[in-house]
Amino acid sequence: MCGIMAYIGGRDTVEVLLEGLRRLEYRGYDSAGVAVSVDGKIELVRSKGKIANLAALLEGNKPEGRSGIAHTRWATHGPPSTKNAHPHPDCEGHLAVVHNGIIENYLELREQLEAEGHTFRSETDTETLAHLFEKYYDGDLEKAVRRGLKEVKGSYAVVAMSDREPGLLVAARQYSPLIVGLGEKKGENFVASDPSAIIAYTRQAYLIDNGEMVMLRADGVQVKTLSGKPVKKPVFHIEWDAEMAEKGGHKHFMIKEIFEQPHALRQTIGDRIVGREMALKLEGLGLSDGYLRRVKKIAVIACGTASYAGMAGQYAIEKVCGVPVIVDVASELQHRECVFDKNTLGIAISQSGETADTLQAMRMAHRQGAKLLAITNAIGSSVARESDGLLYIHAGPEIGVASTKAYTSQILAMLLFCVHLGRVREAVTPRVARRLLRGIKQLPDLAERTLEQADHIKKLAKKHQHIMRYLYLGRGAHYCSAMEGALKIKEIAYLDAEGYAAGEMKHGPLALVTEEVAVLSAVVEGPQYEKALGNLQEIRARGGKVIAVANENDEEIAKYADDVIPIPKTEEVLSPVLAGIPMQLYAYYVADLWNREIDQPRNLAKSVTVE
Ligand code: M6R
Repeated sequence: MCGIMAYIGGRDTVEVLLEGLRRLEYRGYDSAGVAVSVDGKIELVRSKGKIANLAALLEGNKPEGRSGIAHTRWATHGPPSTKNAHPHPDCEGHLAVVHNGIIENYLELREQLEAEGHTFRSETDTETLAHLFEKYYDGDLEKAVRRGLKEVKGSYAVVAMSDREPGLLVAARQYSPLIVGLGEKKGENFVASDPSAIIAYTRQAYLIDNGEMVMLRADGVQVKTLSGKPVKKPVFHIEWDAEMAEKGGHKHFMIKEIFEQPHALRQTIGDRIVGREMALKLEGLGLSDGYLRRVKKIAVIACGTASYAGMAGQYAIEKVCGVPVIVDVASELQHRECVFDKNTLGIAISQSGETADTLQAMRMAHRQGAKLLAITNAIGSSVARESDGLLYIHAGPEIGVASTKAYTSQILAMLLFCVHLGRVREAVTPRVARRLLRGIKQLPDLAERTLEQADHIKKLAKKHQHIMRYLYLGRGAHYCSAMEGALKIKEIAYLDAEGYAAGEMKHGPLALVTEEVAVLSAVVEGPQYEKALGNLQEIRARGGKVIAVANENDEEIAKYADDVIPIPKTEEVLSPVLAGIPMQLYAYYVADLWNREIDQPRNLAKSVTVE
């Protein structure tokens, strides 16, 4: 949500900033801007809309300097417009700032600064920072930023520059991600909100923690606490390379990432299943067997797609281990009383590892004495760092706003944990545990086979192109598939879609079914199969079209559905990994027929770092 890129060094500064912004565009894309230090002055260029608009403005009119800051915005305070775009200058344009996060007391600060004579030009909370730093600036930017931030409540990743100190950029972090890229070439350094902005230039980084400040110069980087104490940071090696974050010949990142799922699933399994006995080596898990035996309840902490991966895990853990699991979206969970205590394990699931609601709920869980296990894709992210134990999914960079490969890899990570928990608590026999793990090991190949349905699914999308309203139904293991399928098509095709537990149909939603409605449903073999068929009959009796995702050996299903998308058979608790794939493909092809901006759907951002 919003992206920051800053550079100091000998390259073409504007090009470096634009390149960084392009790689961050998935985080927010309603306006963008750069500020460059040129001959003792700050030159500011901003524009409404995507980075391409900004690049067009800069074409033939490029400020040339050796340091600059840049931003791509997802509006929170004030609508998308040039005046609300970052960077924001102070009154005289001597200072400029870019900021991610929310300044909670900005109205109070703004009133005070206006009373002191500062003139504001935007409706943003960020502009307050520019004026605060101006107020305290006496030739020392580091001091001004430190002093100004003392008055600020809220979350920030901020980078500031001054025309009087062109060789310095000052950055600070409080609850919004910030990373320093250490130049591999001598004489340059970078600051960004996200590693993908800098991986084209360097893979050596400092991960900045809450309460830290960075003084970035071409020839060195100093990290201090907000109170000025020097901090020695370990160098962190970013494993992703620039190519992994390219489209690689695909029309959209989303479809590339859908097809990467077999590989992503293999990466999630990695070398975690060992030997003939199929021992589980969950390095970093950080939760002792004794603790796992004492756990009385698990609470999944997640938002959106990640919460639906949590639902798949809920079904598996309750069935295999007999441990109660609750799943509620983190924005609600963080305000619910009595969810956590010392016998509750919180499992935080987050692709980006920076989702504000997830982090807030995690902090609440910690305060109430729970331990936390993080399942995330983002190495060194806040979710990873604020947890007691970790399971990285290693799915590789996910750029499309719609989550795809992270979803299936998150489910897989939950399944690995489920088997481990079942073994530790002796809730599964060694034979059943091995059977589940054999099934898990087959999932990447089965995902490959599921992807062979892509052309068939594309044809179905075309056939049903006129449908404007969808219901997604699921039961048991596939309640999550219904929720996730509906979210995908809403998010990228902008079509009306609701996900329901199929058993709820008679309690209301059945009234929505007409000939203009299509129903997508995952109906795989398992204890609820017959009931799920019953639900399909109810839909068809009322004229609704049924598209069923069903096991490839299912000979009955054709009688209950207008169209069938076959998926390979696997254990019921593992099957959400496979059923998720046709849901993604169907949403993708429908959205593409509607010519939607699939990778950057309107109003959305990849990583939601504000509550
Ligand atoms: O980065 P996270 O996994 O924490 O993100 C959670 C949700 O914001 C995310 O899954 C969102 O729902 C996706 N855009 C859905 O495709």
